[in-house]
Amino acid sequence: MQEKHQTLDDFLEKHPDRQEIEASKIKRMLDLDDFEESEWTFKTADTKEFTHFIFHEYPARMIPQVARKLIKMYYPRYDSPSIKKPMLDPFAGSGTTCVEAMLRNIDSIAFDLNPLAHLVEQVKATPMDPPTLKRHFKAIMQHVNENRGKKILETIPPVAQTGFWFNEATIGSLLAIKYAINETFKGGTRHEGTILPAKNFFLACLGKTARDCSYQRKDENKTYRMERERMVEFDRNVDAIQCFKTIFGNFLRATEAFSGYYRTHQFTAKCTAVLGNSMVLEGVADNSIDLIVTSPPYGDSQTTVAYGQFSRFPLEWILPDTSGVKNIDEHLLGGVENETEFPDAPLLLVTCKNIMVAQAKQQQILIATFLDAIGQSELTDTKQEMKDLITFIDTHMPSIQDTTDFAGFIATKNAYYARLGNGRACAAKGNKWLDTRALGKHGRFKIYEDRLGYVISFFADFSKVLARLYQVLDYDRKCCLVVGNRTVKNVQIPTDEIIVDLGKSMGFEHVTTFYRDIPNKRMPLSNSPSNVPGEISPTMAKESIVVLNKPGRMK
Ligand SMILES: C[S@@+](CC[C@H](N)C(=O)[O-])C[C@H]1O[C@@H](n2cnc3c(N)ncnc32)[C@H](O)[C@@H]1O
Repeated sequence: MQEKHQTLDDFLEKHPDRQEIEASKIKRMLDLDDFEESEWTFKTADTKEFTHFIFHEYPARMIPQVARKLIKMYYPRYDSPSIKKPMLDPFAGSGTTCVEAMLRNIDSIAFDLNPLAHLVEQVKATPMDPPTLKRHFKAIMQHVNENRGKKILETIPPVAQTGFWFNEATIGSLLAIKYAINETFKGGTRHEGTILPAKNFFLACLGKTARDCSYQRKDENKTYRMERERMVEFDRNVDAIQCFKTIFGNFLRATEAFSGYYRTHQFTAKCTAVLGNSMVLEGVADNSIDLIVTSPPYGDSQTTVAYGQFSRFPLEWILPDTSGVKNIDEHLLGGVENETEFPDAPLLLVTCKNIMVAQAKQQQILIATFLDAIGQSELTDTKQEMKDLITFIDTHMPSIQDTTDFAGFIATKNAYYARLGNGRACAAKGNKWLDTRALGKHGRFKIYEDRLGYVISFFADFSKVLARLYQVLDYDRKCCLVVGNRTVKNVQIPTDEIIVDLGKSMGFEHVTTFYRDIPNKRMPLSNSPSNVPGEISPTMAKESIVVLNKPGRMK
């Protein structure tokens, strides 16, 4: 009777050919045998296998199966492994591509500017020894138990200094864990200036514990605190030491699976993680890369997919110097408005003009609403100014459309916003009048002018990255970019097509573009395009996989 009710896992566990069955299951998984040739969505796939489990909540993570399939399709087949060249992921994030490269015994190079990504890549793509990790864990827990409740000589990171993000007990526990990790790896653990992999592993556990035990809303990338009512219940249940133990157990299992596979197959591949800017790709030689697989940021790190904000809680507890943590997003692609360099992309100019016109129309509606709201007031000058502004926008829209180059476009845009700026100064009186009537911010006249500058800056930066990718890639090799066409002011930016244009202008050939639905990606499904409360639009339901080729030397 008992036998009949056993689960499949029980059955496999007891089966004499268990290891063989397990191995063939993994092979099917890595060969993507359960999916059609045309499959890119991988809705039913397990996206957390091996070390992909570790920090799988990293913003806009690529799913492993996409990287896996691209490597299968485009990494060259060699007769002699000794001439294999590494793969490159210039926006490595949580290291998905590099883990996949390791699982195929291919060397890889991972660039990212976010120190959390840099740490996680190393933890995920280094085959570690599980018994050694267990030994270190025991030592760490011993230090924690000995020092619990004692005054600990660890600095409280800025994010925890006010009690706004962590309760007192959690701060004490996190300090004890941090101290225990530092003590365990004190002396002899630094190797040529880099922290040993095992210490990184525990710092990753600490970082995740800090995020999970903070008042941060777990389903948000941006730093948003949970509602006050939730905090009471959260405080009752949160236990940072227990959380650290659980995270260690989960990360260890992931590492066991990954290292076990790597060792069983006697692989030798390595992942080199670099904390560096992909516009520079310092140290990567020309023609030295066999395949590029990457998912670049969308250009909205400041507003929507905020990598830096996501990383703030882990990093403040991990890094010795936390001064740069708050500004990470500013350093990422397109993070700073820079309108002095324009990429050579006619489609981008057309898109920018469309965004600008859409923005101007939205602006007109805002001004008209504001005018309505102050209609009962005696602010004759302000009302006249608002009417003039509406007419001004009408007459200005054609001149936006008429510009034929970026320099002209920026000049027109700046003139437009200067005029709007004057109007806004005049609207201040109206705002005051509205406030006294408790109409609130709904009727206020706002300007949002910065988005376009960021769009242009993003593509300007992106073209620098593409130029470097072209240089470092070997001849007749592929560059695969998984991109999303995000929406700005209700205008969808054809990022995939713009990238193809930019790539061609640098010498790349466009091989193909695959399209996939996004069932799993960690992305907000909507944003607020107009900043009008309650007005939202979908962000991205699909993404494009653009495949470019660097032509052979003789072409
Ligand atoms: C879409 S995410 C990559 C996600 C990754 N494929 C994964 O599976 O986790 C984009 C990454 O690009 C990084 N990034 C943005 N600008 C960068 C730059 N200029 N140089 C290097 N990395 C950058 C961000 O920190 C972020 O981790």
